[in-house]
Amino acid sequence: MKIVETIEEVRKQVKEWKKQGLSVGLVPTMGYLHEGHQSLMEAAGKENDKVVVSIFVNPMQFGPTEDLAEYPRDLDHDAKVCEKAGVDLIFHPEPEEMYAPDFCSFVDMTGLTEGLCGKTRPIHFRGVCTVVNKLFNIVQPDRAYFGQKDGQQLAVVRRMVRDLNMDIEIIGCPIVREEDGLAKSSRNTYLSQEERKAALILAKTIRLGEEMAKTEKDAQKVIEAMKKNIETEPLAKIDYVEAVDAVSMEPVKTLDGECMLAMAVYIGKTRLIDNTLLNA
Ligand code: PAJ
Repeated sequence: MKIVETIEEVRKQVKEWKKQGLSVGLVPTMGYLHEGHQSLMEAAGKENDKVVVSIFVNPMQFGPTEDLAEYPRDLDHDAKVCEKAGVDLIFHPEPEEMYAPDFCSFVDMTGLTEGLCGKTRPIHFRGVCTVVNKLFNIVQPDRAYFGQKDGQQLAVVRRMVRDLNMDIEIIGCPIVREEDGLAKSSRNTYLSQEERKAALILAKTIRLGEEMAKTEKDAQKVIEAMKKNIETEPLAKIDYVEAVDAVSMEPVKTLDGECMLAMAVYIGKTRLIDNTLLNA
């Protein structure tokens, strides 16, 4: 497995592979890799001859008061996870390699990016779309792998690829959870022991929503029950709980089509997200 820091080195390697007729799968990440990331690498390994993982904490997708400086980083650990998962190339650029000082081109999406996480993180998806577009242009993969954990991000990337005619297949992979149900996340490391216990309220509430939605199709009733459940946890503060169409991310009134129950909840200072797809 190779670890490279420059765009030029990635291009050279991928060109060699393509000359040999090999297919390439890309897994974009911000590092501090866990089993959620690993599941994407494994999926990529099954469907492609070569797997590239990018590890880049993208400053552009963090708001001015968000956790860019604190975001956990551990390249040695990440390299081991990648090696074990059979990754061929890690692309680990410095911010200066990705963004020239006079950088001024962005991919900006309306609609899908305005609700859910876009409300509290207004510049987030512009940063995600821009960096994912750059990574696609640098690596030129046949397929790229994203987790359902970030359900809105997955929908946004799918839409960007469709709208801008990018010749890349987007593969969505299921949420990987801890044994007790908490969705794996690099941000779980921020939680104290007490908060870690409290954080279970997200997964429990997702399960409650899933169960209720089997018989109750009124989205508002399900959302209210989910909110009430979260409010039983004193350390939890709701950012949003919503039911949205799985493709457009528009709120739905009834839960009969393909839709997503999604939430963001603060546990102490840490903002966690979780979701589930219904009727998928
Ligand atoms: P990051 O949070 O590191 O996540 C990288 C990928 O791993 C995303 O597609 C995310 O959905 C997936 N992932 C994270 N936790 C998961 C879990 N528990 N189960 C399944 N998949 C999981 O998302 C980003 O980085 C960035 O926004 C990025 C796309 C790299 C752009 O900077």
